[in-house]
Formats: sequence, structure tokens, C-alpha cells
Amino acid sequence: MALFDCVCEAESGHARALAYETAHGTFRTPMFMPVGTSATVKGVTAGQLRDLQSQVVLANTYHLSLRPGADVVEAAGGVHTFMNYDGPMLTDSGGFQVFSLADTVKLDADGLTFRSIYDGAKVRWTPEDNMRIQQQLGADIAMQLDQCAPYPAERAFVARAVDLSASWARRCLAAHTRPDQTLFGIVQGGMHLDLRLRSVEALCEIEKESLAAGGRRFGGFGIGGYSVGESHEVMFETLGQVARALPKDRPRYLMGVGNPTTLVRAVREGVDMFDCVLPTRTARMGTAFSSTGRMNLRNAKYTRDFGPLDPACTCPTCQNHSRAYLRHLVKQNEMLGGILLSLHNLHYLLDLMRRAREAVLAGAYEDFYEEWMASPAARDY
Ligand code: GUN
Ligand code: ZN
Repeated sequence: MALFDCVCEAESGHARALAYETAHGTFRTPMFMPVGTSATVKGVTAGQLRDLQSQVVLANTYHLSLRPGADVVEAAGGVHTFMNYDGPMLTDSGGFQVFSLADTVKLDADGLTFRSIYDGAKVRWTPEDNMRIQQQLGADIAMQLDQCAPYPAERAFVARAVDLSASWARRCLAAHTRPDQTLFGIVQGGMHLDLRLRSVEALCEIEKESLAAGGRRFGGFGIGGYSVGESHEVMFETLGQVARALPKDRPRYLMGVGNPTTLVRAVREGVDMFDCVLPTRTARMGTAFSSTGRMNLRNAKYTRDFGPLDPACTCPTCQNHSRAYLRHLVKQNEMLGGILLSLHNLHYLLDLMRRAREAVLAGAYEDFYEEWMASPAARDY
């Protein structure tokens, strides 16, 4: 396969099994991507990520461009070398973080002005600046600079975010030249189906114009602006139609979503890729996913429970440690507690998507979906 080729190996209903070629290897979908915001999946080494058979790992342009700086990462040889992860990587543009972390963001047609969370320094990003930074970081996949509307928001506000994101998509695609990196466009539009479809159409039109002018195409498409406080049911009212309005021949990436049941449902709607801090963040708070639902290891009922965390799990944590030990670590705020639970939670989502893929390859995704929805693990949705 040539670089950034996307092959659909099987479909089952709307669910797909894709193979996608990057300079750091082929990734296969459906797939969950661990989040390594600052070039570290918190508490997990690159070697452990490989052992977990993680595929794409995320990093964030907002954090890395401010600390240690894109020039430092570039001087290290790029983000892969910097963190010693040789699998595929993706950088989010950081537009989302600008809005969610900063209290003073100035937005104009030409870009974003904000203050660093680290030292208050004033930062200015045009779409071209953002592309230059992501090309310095050197992940396999870069995301366009976009504006994610909050929820709820006035329809007119969401419409402006769609149009601004589209104009930035055009500029990002024109400015993106790095040959070993591809750029994903991002769909916005909140919970309004017509605005979502307008966003998809705009991205397709931008790509058509780019190709006609001898420029590039998008390597795939992010579906942004969900999981911003709406209920699951509200998201699923439009998600399937949005996913399936996107070009069939490229991956669809639902950004920032990591609830196991949401993943299983979104795959059924035609989504291929996911990322979320949920498995690692909740792990650091003492919560584990399990085949019987979420477990809070702080619970006193685990004090003398010397059985494995999840008897159904094959991860290193479940092979080697008891619930009582994990509870003790979490209660004492020992760093190993968060690490062991992070390994388990990551394994859980990576394995869930591997099993989803097997089901698609077997042409039996609907059976997999129904079995999941009937399982106790689906209860915590
Ligand atoms: N992460 C989660 N949601 C979004 C989004 O809408 N845009 C970007 N760039 N990143 C996200
Ligand atoms: Zn486990």
C-alpha cells in the first residue's frame, strides 16, 4: 500500500474495518487512540503502549507548542523520536484546547489570539501558523484548526463556527506540504443536522478545489463538536447521518469520545476512530472499566478482595495484582495505582475495538452490538 492509502477490508451494516497506511506503519479500525497530550500517555511508557498493541497515539499542538516548544520537538527529530514511540501518531490542532482552557480567547476571521496556560504569554495562531507548528511536530496525521461551538449554543453561533472552520480548512489544506504527514478536515455543526451537512459539503468542496488546483486532499475527517455536554441520545440523533455523509473511502474520527458503549454504538453508525482521556483520567481517580461495569477501587468492599481486578481481562494489571492491592495503592495515592489502572483501562478499550473489528471481519457486527448492549458492562453508559 502507498502512503495514506485506505483500504476497506470489510463492512458489516454501517460498521467498517479499514487498513490505513502511514510512515510509521499500518493502523486498522475500528480503533481507540490513547491520548498523550504532552507527548506522554500519563504514567505509561512507549514500550508499554507497544505491549498493549496500541496503534495511533495522540499528542496535542496546544500543549507541545507552548511546552517544550515545537522547535525543541523538531530538534529532537519530531514527536515520535522525542517520546520514543515508533507507531503512528496524530496531533490535534489545539483549537479545542484554546477554547476550553483559556479564558481570554480572541477570535477573528484570520485566526486566534490567546494567553498560554503556562505563563500567560500572548500567542497568535493563523491556520498557516498552526500548520507550520504541526509539521514541525511531525505526527503522521495533523488536524485542521477549527472552532468547536459549546453546547448549548445559539444556532447562529454554531453556523458561524461551521463557516469559520471551513475557511480555516481551506487555508490549512493549502498550507500543508509535509510529504510524510496527512491532514484531516473537521466537521462541526453542533446538534443541527443541516449545519453538520453544510460542514461536510464545504469540506468536500474545498477538497475538490484543492485537487483541481493540483493541491492535496484530506487524509480523513474528524467529527468534532460532540461530547460537549449533550446527552448520548442527542448525539446519536445526528451522528450516523453525519458519519455516512462523509466520503466512504477515508476514515471518520469521532473526536474526544471514549465511553465504551458510545464506541460500540458509534462504530455501528460508521465511525472508525476514537480518542479520549477517559480511560487514563478515570484510572488516576481510581476507576476501572470492567466486564461487569465500572469499579471504584476506593470502595471498602475491595479491602480484602484478593481476586484479580477483572477476571475476564488479560492485561498485565489483571494478571499480576489483586483488587485489594489496587485499592490500597489508590487509597494511599501511590502513583503505581494510577499507572496500573491506566494500563488496564487502555487495554480494555483497545481490546474492545479489536473485538469490534473481528466482528466486522466476520460480518457479524450486529451480533457483537447486541451482545454488548445486553452485557453488564453496557450498564454504566
Ligand atoms: N477534540 C474533541 N472535540 C474536538 C473538536 O471539536 N475539535 C478539535 N480540534 N478537537 C476536538
Ligand atoms: Zn485488566
